[in-house]
Amino acid sequence: MSIAWDDALKVGNIEIDADHKELIGLVGDFETMVKSPKSVTPRSIQITLERLQLYAHDHFAREEYIQAIAKYPGLAENKRQHDALRKTLADYIAKFEAGQFGDLGKAADEMAAFLNHWLMSHIVDVDMKMRGALSDEGWR
Ligand SMILES: [Fe+2]
Repeated sequence: MSIAWDDALKVGNIEIDADHKELIGLVGDFETMVKSPKSVTPRSIQITLERLQLYAHDHFAREEYIQAIAKYPGLAENKRQHDALRKTLADYIAKFEAGQFGDLGKAADEMAAFLNHWLMSHIVDVDMKMRGALSDEGWR
């Protein structure tokens, strides 16, 4: 199932919420691509995964910085979660690049499900804990 941005996903910091919106958009672009089998090529999948990986790295760094400035008590745990998410995504990309997926259409569907799950784990399971703890003004 795909994720769509919803105000219920806001953690209450304008930068972090904008990043999450962008990440959801990137996963959404991937799903759109998957629905049009002609556009699914190893190269197009690789480009999408790399864009997502780059943005996720930037986002995690930004989020940790904002949390550090705000003296957010969950920072250490959040860093651990980010490391795990970076690794899961990197492993997934490495598996793809090593050609460990058979049928490309099937692989792309599976990947879309994985990315949705991966992103939801980050936003809902981890980041929702900081809701109310970081005001936009609190870290400036
Ligand atoms: Fe986040």
